[in-house]
Amino acid sequence: MVIAIDGPAGAGKSTVARGLAEELGFTYLDSGAMYRCVALTCLEWGADPNASGEATSTAESIEIGFDDGEVLIDGVPVTDEIRTPEVTEAASQVSVHPGVREAMVTEQRRLIAAGPFVAEGRDIATVVSPDSPLKIFLTASPEERAERRAAQTGADVSEVLAAQEDRDRRDSEREHGALLVADDAVTIDSTGLTPDEVISRIAGLARERGLA
Ligand code: DC
Repeated sequence: MVIAIDGPAGAGKSTVARGLAEELGFTYLDSGAMYRCVALTCLEWGADPNASGEATSTAESIEIGFDDGEVLIDGVPVTDEIRTPEVTEAASQVSVHPGVREAMVTEQRRLIAAGPFVAEGRDIATVVSPDSPLKIFLTASPEERAERRAAQTGADVSEVLAAQEDRDRRDSEREHGALLVADDAVTIDSTGLTPDEVISRIAGLARERGLA
């Protein structure tokens, strides 16, 4: 069983999904980290993240793992390496290719079958787990999202905002796995809310629905 948390970059999905999983005793799945692993490997192997064939065969060639808060590619920890601005940009590029998405979705379904999970991403409620009993669409104003990212990385807010606009456009316009609000999703706008406030709201919904 999966609680799905989808939404744009900087909406607070990672903090909220991690905290919610801890509160409910579920396992946390960061699906974006998997696209980041494909992107990092493309950059390391000299494969073009914009070339569908190269990115897809890269995605199919690596084994992505999660262990105790660490993200692993073929058993090697890459937790920090996948968070650089270069990898962030390349992750957005590789994630448009249907072959990359198919490889990631297959792996995500295999992982969450062991449930219960809190999974966060863009297409968890719409593609990966459409029968999820609790779907959250977590969003926040573009300015607040950019400010949160800038505070994490020390980057300039206006630069983050510009890059974010590009990625938002790519996320919502791509043909496969686009960022869409599922019909039965609960939308939460986290602008001005603390992570704890969002977590307790979702935990309340999970308990109301008998999931925890
Ligand atoms: O959430 P994030 O910033 O770590 O995601 C990295 C990239 O992967 C981002 O450009 C969107 C993409 N992504 C996706 O296409 N589908 C997902 N389920 C999760 C992330």
